[in-house]
Formats: sequence, C-alpha cells, structure tokens
Amino acid sequence: MSVVVALAVTPPNGTGSGLRKLTYFVACTIDGFIGDPKGDASSTYGYVMGEYLEFLKAEYPETVAAPAWPVLGIEPGTPARRYDTVLQGLNSYRIGLDAGITSPYAHLREYVATRSLTESPDPNVELIADDLVGRVRELKAEEGGLDIWLCGGSTLAGALVDEIDELVVKTYPEVYGSGMPMFGTGFQVREFDLGEVRAFDNGVVVRTYTRKR
Ligand SMILES: NC(=O)c1ccc[n+]([C@@H]2O[C@H](COP(=O)([O-])OP(=O)(O)OC[C@H]3O[C@@H](n4cnc5c(N)ncnc54)[C@H](OP(=O)(O)O)[C@@H]3O)[C@@H](O)[C@H]2O)c1
Repeated sequence: MSVVVALAVTPPNGTGSGLRKLTYFVACTIDGFIGDPKGDASSTYGYVMGEYLEFLKAEYPETVAAPAWPVLGIEPGTPARRYDTVLQGLNSYRIGLDAGITSPYAHLREYVATRSLTESPDPNVELIADDLVGRVRELKAEEGGLDIWLCGGSTLAGALVDEIDELVVKTYPEVYGSGMPMFGTGFQVREFDLGEVRAFDNGVVVRTYTRKR
C-alpha cells in the first residue's frame, strides 16, 4: 500500500503567476542519476509495475510514450492530466527515432531542442535551435492549457535549470555510484520547497518540489 504525505500541493497549471509551469518529471536512482554514464536506465524498468504503475497511469498517463499505451493498458484517448507539451533534447528524442518512432508523444505538443537536426522528422515535432530559454518562456506565457513537461535529458535539463518551476522526481531504490546526472550543468545552489511525497510498496518514492523564487 502506498504512503502519501501531502504538504503544499500545487495543482496543474497552478503557479498562481498565470504562467504555465515547466516541470522536470524525471526518473532517477537514490544517488540522483537518471541513467548509467550513457543515460541507460533500463535497470529500473522492472519497478514499473503494481500500484506504482497504476499511479502513473492514473496521474501521469501522458508521460507514457504512445507505443507503450496498449502494452500498459492505457485506453486510447485517455486525457492528459498535467501536461499538454513535452520538451526533449535531441539525444533523448533520438532513442525513439532510431527505432523508427518519430512522434513518441503524439498525444502532446512535442518540442525537440537541437542545433544539428535541421528538419523535423514528424509534423507533430517542432525543433528549437535558437534561444531555447526565450522559446520556453513563450510557451509558459501561452494562455490556458496544461503545463509543460521537461522530459530531459541531462544536458537539456542543465540548460533549462533556472526555468524549472517544479520537479517531480521518481526515485527508484537503486544506487549506481556514477552515471548521468539529473542536471548537466555547473555547481550552484538552487532551493526548492517540498510538496507531495508518495512512497510505493516496491520502494519507489515520488517527490514533488516547487522552485523557491
Ligand atoms: N531518467 C529519465 O527520466 C530520463 C528522461 C529523459 C532522458 N533520459 C536519458 O537521458 C539521456 C540523454 O541525455 P543527454 O544529456 O545525453 O542529452 P539530451 O539532453 O537529451 O539532448 C542533448 C542535445 O539537446 C540539444 N540541446 C541541448 N541544449 C540545447 C540548447 N540550449 N539549444 C539547442 N539545443 C540544445 C543538443 O542537440 P544538438 O547536438 O543537435 O545541438 C544536445 O546535444 C538518454 O540516454 C535518455 O535515456 C532519462
């Protein structure tokens, strides 16, 4: 049975500022790595089961890649709960692309940051080459809608660390010792307020934090 600790919970699109939030919704190990040194986190896949999987399907269905919906039992047309937009770096997007998947989150508006890829492989995917921060601020300022999911990876999260309004950190009960950090950026202290904490029977803990401004 899962344990829920609800502190100050921020509702979707609820920064109170009128802006859409940029949320880094990310999976990591206990020691804060989002993957092995090359970014591979397949050792954690076995935890996506049972009540934790049901939580993801109920609360964050849109963060499941479209090809996995039938596999995980997500009904076609299931509405997004929190995000209507996803932002990926090229290396993260390339994982699906290399498997022939040009629009992994076809149910969302998809943006891929890249300076090297000049033509989008899919009509649903918009490339961002210049002024990444400015483009993200434009997306945040759009009227209405849900929030923006910063998918990763490490390099992109490092480039956008100061634009992040919220973290949703899914911590898997593993230690890597070294690997790909959550943020590929230099040292600087940045503070966050703790919101909801959910602990699942398989040892996964999902914590939500809001950036202190
Ligand atoms: N655990 C998780 O939840 C999670 C989530 C997502 C990804 N990942 C993992 O993260 C790994 C990839 O991370 P990564 O750090 O190697 O790469 P990444 O952040 O996915 O992509 C990096 C690329 O994004 C582009 N980019 C970054 N900053 C930019 C800017 N300011 N303007 C324009 N383009 C910019 C660049 O593309 P160009 O080189 O084309 O300029 C850069 O090479 C993958 O292995 C993936 O599995 C894990």
